Amino acid sequence: MTKAKNIVWHESEVTKRDRQEAKGHKSAILWFTGLSGSGKSTISAALETALHSKGVHTYRLDGDNVRHGLNKNLGFSPDDRSENIRRIGEVAKLMVDAGLFTLTAFISPYQEDRDQVREIVDADEFIEVYVKASLETCEERDPKGLYKKARLGEIKDFTGIDAPYEEPVNAEISIDTNQLSIEESVEVIISYLKENNYIKKSQ
Ligand code: ADX
Repeated sequence: MTKAKNIVWHESEVTKRDRQEAKGHKSAILWFTGLSGSGKSTISAALETALHSKGVHTYRLDGDNVRHGLNKNLGFSPDDRSENIRRIGEVAKLMVDAGLFTLTAFISPYQEDRDQVREIVDADEFIEVYVKASLETCEERDPKGLYKKARLGEIKDFTGIDAPYEEPVNAEISIDTNQLSIEESVEVIISYLKENNYIKKSQ
């Protein structure tokens, strides 16, 4: 629902296509989703480095970072998580319009919220990347010590413990970090981008 009245969309003369052509590649959202500790941040950061070295223009939005600024007024209730994802979706959409490969790393536990982001961009502009790791593995890794706190009841509504995670049903790419290394995971995504003509095969 749009709250403001009397607002009129103003088109730019320079279009998304113009910006993509200037950069020499398409633009899209690579939407990483998965449990805390599954590897979303690590893989998306490694992918960004790999794409950057190929001359692909990128920007990465990461859950913990965005919650320090843009979304600092949001917590982890279902409504706040939905609003978190809605805002990120809108920011990512602007970045796609700017001609960037936008990598987002958020748990984004609800299918409906992810689907809503998919809906606001063109069909080929949303690439859902499911970073899959069992809860056991994530809990064993526990890089921030948060699972331990959640088990002790010091953090409430923690995804996988006492808050849900809905596995993607239509992810374009699925990466099992129980099986693949970071380098292999990056390679899977780059191959997808090449095969689907997002970036040049020679890139
Ligand atoms: S999301 O569910 O709204 O998509 P987001 O990715 O922004 O979550 O933030 C998740 C990060 O916040 C986790 O990686 C973890 O570091 C931290 N965090 C703090 N409290 C929670 C919680 N209750 N559930 C999940 N993650 C939490």
